[in-house]
Amino acid sequence: MSSEATLTIALSKGRILKETLPLLEAAGIVPLDHPDKSRKLILRTNLPHVRLLAVRATDAPTYVNHGAADLGVAGKDVLMEADDDNLYELLDLKIAPCRLMVAGPADFQPGGHRLKVATKYVRSARAYFARKGEQVELIKLYGSMELAPLVGLSDVIVDLVDTGNTLKANGLVPMEHIADISSRLIANRHAYKMKFDLIQDLVQQMQEAINHD
Ligand code: ATP
Ligand code: PRP
Repeated sequence: MSSEATLTIALSKGRILKETLPLLEAAGIVPLDHPDKSRKLILRTNLPHVRLLAVRATDAPTYVNHGAADLGVAGKDVLMEADDDNLYELLDLKIAPCRLMVAGPADFQPGGHRLKVATKYVRSARAYFARKGEQVELIKLYGSMELAPLVGLSDVIVDLVDTGNTLKANGLVPMEHIADISSRLIANRHAYKMKFDLIQDLVQQMQEAINHD
């Protein structure tokens, strides 16, 4: 945890960032260098006591869970996969909305064998199929999940769907809805207690900005 009067926020680079910056600005926080353009990974802001860490989307909960950042922004999909023993989810930022779904070829017929599921979201997929009482074989991938059923690596995939364009472009169809996804503001439990006033101010200002959208 950074010292008591300071605030360190882990920000996912990539698509969440664009939508996070206006919310931070509503809370009076503006980075001095643009996070998408700068190669710096620790970014100073207009507020001397607030700094931003530019991290991979999947790494944001790790920085916060271990206390290397007090706060962070991460997709619910990433949070559902992450260790969260030291995490509080403070706010639904309602940004980067999409759905976690099972998808596959339109003509897919379940055969006698155990369903093969390719996904980056192994924990969520395992929990989903376990709830359905279905035994599946999970195949871990790190991207381009849509390819797996096309080349016989899996029967279906578990992946994020927004417009559905990626599925369509690869001849796949959405089959089952697992969860609605959006990005969340998360806090380290210890930091939340020690820096309650600082964090509460920020949460309130972000909440107002979300409500006005
Ligand atoms: P990493 O950079 O660690 O590989 P990533 O490529 O998944 O992660 P992004 O593509 O920037 O990173 O996605 C970040 C978050 O945005 C995801 O965790 C998810 O919550 C959300 N997201 C991903 N894809 C979409 C999409 N197509 N539409 C809307 N939101 C999405
Ligand atoms: C995400 C997701 C899907 C796609 C869905 O991939 O993994 O492939 O977006 O969006 P759509 O329904 O609007 O087409 P992303 O673009 O982040 O690529 P990546 O998984 O390789 O990082």
